[in-house]
Amino acid sequence: MLVRVMLTNVYSAYINFHVLIRSFFNILHQIIIPMLSFADCKIMIDNKIENLTFKGYRPKELYEPISYILKLGGKRLRPVMTLMACNLFDETIDYAVNPALAIEIFHNFTLLHDDIMDKAPMRRGNPTVHHKWNENIAILSGDAMNILAYQYLCNTKSEYLPSLLEIFSQTAMEICEGQQMDMNFETRDDVSLTEYLEMIRLKTAVLLAASLKIGAICGGASETSGELLYSFGLNLGMAFQIQDDFLDAFGNEEEFGKSIGGDIVAGKKTFLYLKALEVASKEQRDELLNLYNDSSQDAPTKVPAVQRIFRDLSISDLAVETVANYTDTAMKSLSEVSAKNSKQGLQSLAYQIMRRKN
Ligand code: IPE
Ligand code: IPE
Ligand code: MG
Ligand code: MG
Ligand code: MG
Repeated sequence: MLVRVMLTNVYSAYINFHVLIRSFFNILHQIIIPMLSFADCKIMIDNKIENLTFKGYRPKELYEPISYILKLGGKRLRPVMTLMACNLFDETIDYAVNPALAIEIFHNFTLLHDDIMDKAPMRRGNPTVHHKWNENIAILSGDAMNILAYQYLCNTKSEYLPSLLEIFSQTAMEICEGQQMDMNFETRDDVSLTEYLEMIRLKTAVLLAASLKIGAICGGASETSGELLYSFGLNLGMAFQIQDDFLDAFGNEEEFGKSIGGDIVAGKKTFLYLKALEVASKEQRDELLNLYNDSSQDAPTKVPAVQRIFRDLSISDLAVETVANYTDTAMKSLSEVSAKNSKQGLQSLAYQIMRRKN
């Protein structure tokens, strides 16, 4: 009996000692290799992009617009999310850096083409590439950026390449599908909210989702973790685009960096427009439909008139509520990810996105 008690005591002392040593090393590990914050990752990405010069590259008409759009900055959310996702599973994020750059270059390529399609004059507070140069230049520089993106994507650990290429190519194709739906909707007046949600999933949400999944792959995460992060990004991306629709109508032009009312002028079937049609009275509905379909009205008349209808119907409240719901759903997926390191950075990033003004 005495021997048994002694043995049990020795065993539990041994376990406690083990736990103590493990916690000690965990704390030490956190001190030596701390988790990367959003700011840390952003600095890394900024530095890498700063060094992406195409000096001396010819023809300059092809490369100058690439430098121009990349140096205009932007939030660089996607590559930062890639690094943060990787850092959940691995302290060294080296393998994620080039794929993260690939995502940012690809995103900027889509902006060059999107601005032609949307006839947008301003991006990041500056003239769009097709306005500063011309449409042909924006098309070809965009194409070159797409190729550049693949070159960066492939410059990582070779064992990750099949999965990286699969998710990246699938995402790129889906963005094209979403963009075509967005254009088709401009001339349709029977677009449903379900169709709109599918369109923004494709044109916007899948890239945020893929940014996180790519980071997870580069961090050696399990497939389940990669999928959960994909779902986190997908819901965050839905919130992101609805917030973008809201800012396009009610943002501050200086802060937002794009011309306010651009979606209204282009006849975009945005969250605000579709929700307004849903809750409007018969008269308000007719007024909104007429305004939206009247191409003879110029922007200075059309934009305030549509904004007034949106205000009368308190559509902003519905947008805020929907953005919050998608963010909550996103958070649930994130909470299920079993990561080695803290998820706090990604959690606060999600809340920042929800409240973004630019
Ligand atoms: C703009 O993306 C395109 C959308 C999907 C709405 P961002 O708002 O991330 O643009 P930048 O890169 O920060 O300028
Ligand atoms: C952009 O949607 C989606 C892509 C660029 C693929 P928007 O057309 O709403 O983006 P912004 O508002 O021009 O940035
Ligand atoms: Mg656009
Ligand atoms: Mg667009
Ligand atoms: Mg927009």
